Amino acid sequence: MGPGPGLAAALLALLLPVPVPVSARGPGAAACEVSPGGRFDCGPERLLSRAGCEARGCCYSPGPGPRSGPGPPWCFFPRGYRSYRAENLTATESGFSARLRREAAAFLPAAVDELRLELALETPARLRFTLRDAARPRYEVPLATPRVHGRAPATLYGLQVSQEPFGLVVCRQRGGTVLLNTTVAPLFFTDQFLQISTSLPSRFISGLGEHLTPLFLDTAWTRVTLWNRDMAPAPHVNLYGSHPFYLVMEDDGSAHGVFLLNSNAMDVLLQPSPALTWRTTGGILDFYIFLGPDPKSVVRQYLDVVGFPFMPPYWGLGFHLCRWGYSSTDITRQVVANMTAARFPLDVQWNDLDYADAKRDFTFNKKSFRDYPEMVRDFHSRGLRYIMIVDAGISSSGPPGTYKPFDEGLRRGVFIRNATGQPLIGKVWPGPTAFPDFTNPETHEWWHDMVKDFHEQVPFDGMWLDMNEPSNFVEGSQDGCPNNNLEHPPYVPGVFGGRLQAGTICASSQQYLSSHYNLHSLYGLTEAIASHNALLRVRGKRPFIISRSTFAGHGRYAGHWTGDVGSDWQQLYYSIPEVLLFNLFGVPLVGADICGFLGDTSEELCVRWTQLGAFYPFMRNHNDHGTRPQEPFAFSPPAQAAMRNALRLRYSLLPFLYTLFHRALSAGQTVARPLFLEFPTDPNTWAVDRQLLWGGGLLITPVLEAGQTKVSGYFPAGTWYSLTGDSTIHSKGQWILLPVPLDTINVHVRAGHILPLQEPAFSTAQSRGKGMALVVALTPDGFARGELFWDDGESWETFERGDYTELLFLASSDAAVLSQLLRASAHLDGVLLEAVTVLGVTSPPRRVLANGAIVSDFSYRSDTQVLRVPVALPMWEQFVISWS
Ligand code: NOJ
Repeated sequence: MGPGPGLAAALLALLLPVPVPVSARGPGAAACEVSPGGRFDCGPERLLSRAGCEARGCCYSPGPGPRSGPGPPWCFFPRGYRSYRAENLTATESGFSARLRREAAAFLPAAVDELRLELALETPARLRFTLRDAARPRYEVPLATPRVHGRAPATLYGLQVSQEPFGLVVCRQRGGTVLLNTTVAPLFFTDQFLQISTSLPSRFISGLGEHLTPLFLDTAWTRVTLWNRDMAPAPHVNLYGSHPFYLVMEDDGSAHGVFLLNSNAMDVLLQPSPALTWRTTGGILDFYIFLGPDPKSVVRQYLDVVGFPFMPPYWGLGFHLCRWGYSSTDITRQVVANMTAARFPLDVQWNDLDYADAKRDFTFNKKSFRDYPEMVRDFHSRGLRYIMIVDAGISSSGPPGTYKPFDEGLRRGVFIRNATGQPLIGKVWPGPTAFPDFTNPETHEWWHDMVKDFHEQVPFDGMWLDMNEPSNFVEGSQDGCPNNNLEHPPYVPGVFGGRLQAGTICASSQQYLSSHYNLHSLYGLTEAIASHNALLRVRGKRPFIISRSTFAGHGRYAGHWTGDVGSDWQQLYYSIPEVLLFNLFGVPLVGADICGFLGDTSEELCVRWTQLGAFYPFMRNHNDHGTRPQEPFAFSPPAQAAMRNALRLRYSLLPFLYTLFHRALSAGQTVARPLFLEFPTDPNTWAVDRQLLWGGGLLITPVLEAGQTKVSGYFPAGTWYSLTGDSTIHSKGQWILLPVPLDTINVHVRAGHILPLQEPAFSTAQSRGKGMALVVALTPDGFARGELFWDDGESWETFERGDYTELLFLASSDAAVLSQLLRASAHLDGVLLEAVTVLGVTSPPRRVLANGAIVSDFSYRSDTQVLRVPVALPMWEQFVISWS
């Protein structure tokens, strides 16, 4: 039914009493007739014997799967199992509320007897519902989400409430597809175990990062654990970030999304019926449902809640080079010199821990890095930027007076505290360390002061936040952890290491806002916010931050790299779904360590990785210490030539990439985009994760295996031109085999798009002044469209202040390409449009005009149908190029 006036009355009429066939002796046989794929586990915290199972009023049926591990549970809930009963359904300003009374004995401790349900019809496509303890406040994630007053008058969704047992059903108003149905299994709400299940309308579910997974998850009994963890990426383990958001593709190509705003350690279980169960260990249940109805809208609706991505500086989209083991300024300078000598573009040189004195933040080694400030200034004078690593842990072992960050931090009370109220001491690279509590406003001030002090010595341009899950080499702390229910909750999700403290600090340590138990997975986000604000204050320009640990909403402040990936082909493949998923999570500035981080790379792998890496929104080659060198200049001349091509290709596409980032900031769009976002009604695209799009117009089909001479790619129905203009694919929606010599990455432009390009150079400082070009990919009807966003590339909030140029490019069926100046600033002045390449010109033009003047040196090839028009037109003025 559609909510609207009279909502409460209408809903009350829909309080559906569900028959409860549970007797005192256990459920009746009929209630246990549940297909194996639809069984919900009645023993989430431990395996139960038949007697133990029946004592919970559950059904026991051994097989067909294993007793433990993935498969149908042997002990499962009967249909209609009692949990909570809904009462007092009342209309509110934004939707309705109800009281939920617990009806059944709970088998986990500290069950909450009375819950308050609040449901808000926030927008036509978004609804939010929360379940809180009616009697006392509990921890809630401190993420500022939109405040909505009133209720959306007409919605894409309909709602039903089941009274007993309580459940909520959300369906599509049109077509009636059930998107969420929590009546499929009982609701649990205890102090440290909250569980809610739902059916899914299809098995095509994506999201729930961060994991090493394909783009779509497997619903055949998969457990997905969220708890930020320093862990070399491997399948089936919790990694560095938590993004409790999923997107489901429905059978007809519609999509919806669900976000559980909860930061506690959790498992999400997927099962074949298909269905999903959230099991979290604290907080409240705070759900957002996004109705799309197309997948792009779902992503935007999610970002409406968690925040649109930040705009990186232009130089941040150039090539970044790093490794652990550049052990002196001499070596770091030599690396840059080698890049220049070998004619590779480079925008940002990085240093790992090597620069620091005894691996301590905000210090530098006065011997090996004695000319560190001068080195950074030298880089600047050559148009390069510089970034160094900053670890989360602050060295705590030196005598007082020897290390300001710790002394000051201690004095200002910024560190996370242990059970006795003292700073908790763990161990990271510098040895014993304390951990700044970035939920404390004072910590932000202290962090700013440290950043400022260091920046006054070394004028770095951005920050690389590492080890911020936070990572800890001893379990919990140097003194262990207390034995309490936060360290050992009744239900422990499937975290790697088996305990919450594994690889990090004690769960019961205290932060300003709450316990670390609640705040753990927010560590990286809160550090990124503090660093973003500090950099902005110190540099006065757009901050550039790359962080390993992330949480929902991270993309507003920083980007992400995918951590310690191995130098192997499998990890090369997995980097595509990782990059695509982070784009769905609103963190478009993301990339993997090109050529791999752990272990030795090979020349072929490194070439292929550089080709794909040229299409990571964040492009950095980074390497572990002690492994084979993998800078582009470290390889044979043919490999170098292939890498040079890839880098030049990226640099030529930067105006397009930058414009996509602008669309991310201004409209909540993705930058690197999975195919299904553009082609949701073609189910063949849904699981494609060996290719990626940039925006809607550029399809990249990389090589992901050794020894390939051909690669197969899916081309959705339509016309696709190779970017070079030498071949065209008219696809009906087909897999196509493409040749892939070592120096080639296949890149296709989709008919209907116009891409702005710029002549590449050795850094963006140089390339931004070079000539531009347009690639116009006509549809068979002769249309195409594109845009360019341009500003000074680094000032703060240029879009918000209107200090930018925006151009719209249009090609129409009357054989013309024109530009429209939507907004003008001086930043494009002096930049010329030097070439226009029109793809798909079916008949040879006799005459070409640029702003009415005859162009005599155009060229046209009838075999490829490519028209090339050399011009010299001011980009900052409108132009028309026509042919006849
Ligand atoms: C772990 C990071 O993931 C890696 O990139 C870095 O090189 C090492 N820490 C050393 O700082």
